[in-house]
Amino acid sequence: MKNHSFTAIVLAAGQGTRMKSSTPKVLHLLGHLPLIHHVDCLLEASNCQNRILVTAPSMESVREHFPQYHHAIQENPLGTGHAVRAAEPFIKDNEDVVILYGDVPFVAKDTLQAMMEEKASNAADIILLSMMPEDPGAYGRLIIDDEGFVERIVEYKDATEEEKEIPFCNSGILLTKGSLLKNLLKKISNKNAKKEYYLTDIIGIATQEGFKTLALDGAEEELMGVNSPEDLALAEALFQGYCRQKFLDQGVRFLDPDTTYFAYDTEIAEDVTIEPNVFCGPGVQIKKGAHVRAFSYLEGCTIGENTVVGPFARIRPGTVLEKNTRVGNFVELKNSTIGEGSKVPHLSYVGDATLGRKVNVGAGTITCNYDGYQKHKTTIGDNVFIGSNTSLIAPITIGDNAMVGAGSTLTQDVAKDSLALSRKEQSNIENGAQKFRAKHRKD
Ligand code: UD1
Ligand code: CA
Repeated sequence: MKNHSFTAIVLAAGQGTRMKSSTPKVLHLLGHLPLIHHVDCLLEASNCQNRILVTAPSMESVREHFPQYHHAIQENPLGTGHAVRAAEPFIKDNEDVVILYGDVPFVAKDTLQAMMEEKASNAADIILLSMMPEDPGAYGRLIIDDEGFVERIVEYKDATEEEKEIPFCNSGILLTKGSLLKNLLKKISNKNAKKEYYLTDIIGIATQEGFKTLALDGAEEELMGVNSPEDLALAEALFQGYCRQKFLDQGVRFLDPDTTYFAYDTEIAEDVTIEPNVFCGPGVQIKKGAHVRAFSYLEGCTIGENTVVGPFARIRPGTVLEKNTRVGNFVELKNSTIGEGSKVPHLSYVGDATLGRKVNVGAGTITCNYDGYQKHKTTIGDNVFIGSNTSLIAPITIGDNAMVGAGSTLTQDVAKDSLALSRKEQSNIENGAQKFRAKHRKD
């Protein structure tokens, strides 16, 4: 099946009004990735060569995500059948065509593969995915004939009370040959409750013309569609659950898996321990043996082997922690590399910096990287010791083995092996405290 070439039509022209958002529905995030990209990932994994996206004229922001697609614009949302018709110019007669939905994000590669295999075995002319949800709600219902084929689909709004009792529901996803699809689409009408051109009507028409439709039963969670913020929250919970299970199976230890959050591209190696309430935004890679302590917020970073991060660390995009580093509580790192064996144990901001190996950064160290207009770089060599409460005003370079005295504000580079101090010399006034109190005493 590997080289089987097929066309995919992804429907996304619906207005998604139930999301109550100015963002097009399919661009809402699931695991930090827009819904529609989950469908694209399926097509990528399935090696689909011909991809067609159907959008409304106003959805330029959606089309921009997919320069490699054919774009079909549905001028008015007159129904799912009308939407597929908009894609016709890009449908090849001899190729199989699968119809997918931009707001149905969990369809698995294996499921698509199973549909293809049924089709290839000539089991039927049309293969569709059905489901038996706990609450069938307003899904279209499948009317099955005596031989077990689908005779037609009745939309909920057009269904009789008896038909509404049918538990077999239409997921909307189907596979058929391009020429047959085009032929059937010509024959659908909008004489129904919603005055729409229903794609689902092609099944009844096919039956009348002697073609067979077979339903493959899928899991409700896999075929769920996102129509409202509630659905999106449910989809996110499912997504997080899948990630947790995947990482547990891979040998990641969680003290409380339900409180750890992941993005679509989070990578965690084996032998990693994650404490409660850890958040991974996009682009996080956690390497073998690392320990992420509670309440850490990670985005766009690499946590090196055997590194300890947190508790309460914020690691921002562009940060690389090399092997055996320590990043402690209330530390914010951004766009910085922390060299092997280096430590930033507490209360620091390190941004746009490169630290060598075995550097020790004292509490309260700030890289002053921004002058209000531009960001500047801080470079720190190997074995450098930075005393507590130090301000490093960038651009600045501190050479290997240098030391910086606590409380310093540095504006100039420090040569290797040097000690930099920039603080006013201390003066002690004998009995000064006593005198001060005497002066201010009220009684
Ligand atoms: C559709 C099916 C229903 C099935 C359900 C599964 C039809 C007529 N009904 O109903 O049998 O149980 O999906 O979720 O197909 N779209 C367009 N242009 C349009 C209308 C819709 O592109 O003019 C797109 C939407 O963006 C969406 C998809 O098609 O991605 C489905 O449309 P929607 O209105 O949600 O269909 P349902 O009423 O849910
Ligand atoms: Ca829907």
